[in-house]
Amino acid sequence: MENEHKQEVTRRRFLTMVMGVPLAVGASTPLVLAGGVLNPPKSLRPTPPQMAVAKVEDIKDKPMEFIYDGYPAVIFLKGKEYKAFSRVCTHLGCIVKWNEAENKFECPCHGGIFDADGNVVKGPPPKPLERLTAWVEEGIVLVRQEVS
Ligand code: FES
Repeated sequence: MENEHKQEVTRRRFLTMVMGVPLAVGASTPLVLAGGVLNPPKSLRPTPPQMAVAKVEDIKDKPMEFIYDGYPAVIFLKGKEYKAFSRVCTHLGCIVKWNEAENKFECPCHGGIFDADGNVVKGPPPKPLERLTAWVEEGIVLVRQEVS
């Protein structure tokens, strides 16, 4: 009797394992595929669009606003380096404004503050403003979203 019970448990365990593996694989495959689609490897991601913003002489140390890929953005010169960011707050997507007097970006929604490099200084934003790469070609400043 004892042996029969042990054998039955063993058979049950075996069947659970045999049935469980395909079920686990079957259940997780769509999640793995969805993860690959939602966050594909860098090499498979489409290249963000590049956009001409302005002539070199038009970009000064004061932020200049423009629209990149449908979203508000800003560009300015800091020393000899172009700084360009999305103006979409990384908290809940409000549009940040440049505070010239205090040299920082302020989010009007929940008090998020970013420094002139787009880094979070205060408030709920979880990460820096999205950076755009800027470069010059034939006297024109172009930008493209940085791919992380
Ligand atoms: Fe900017 Fe909340 S949306 S701080």
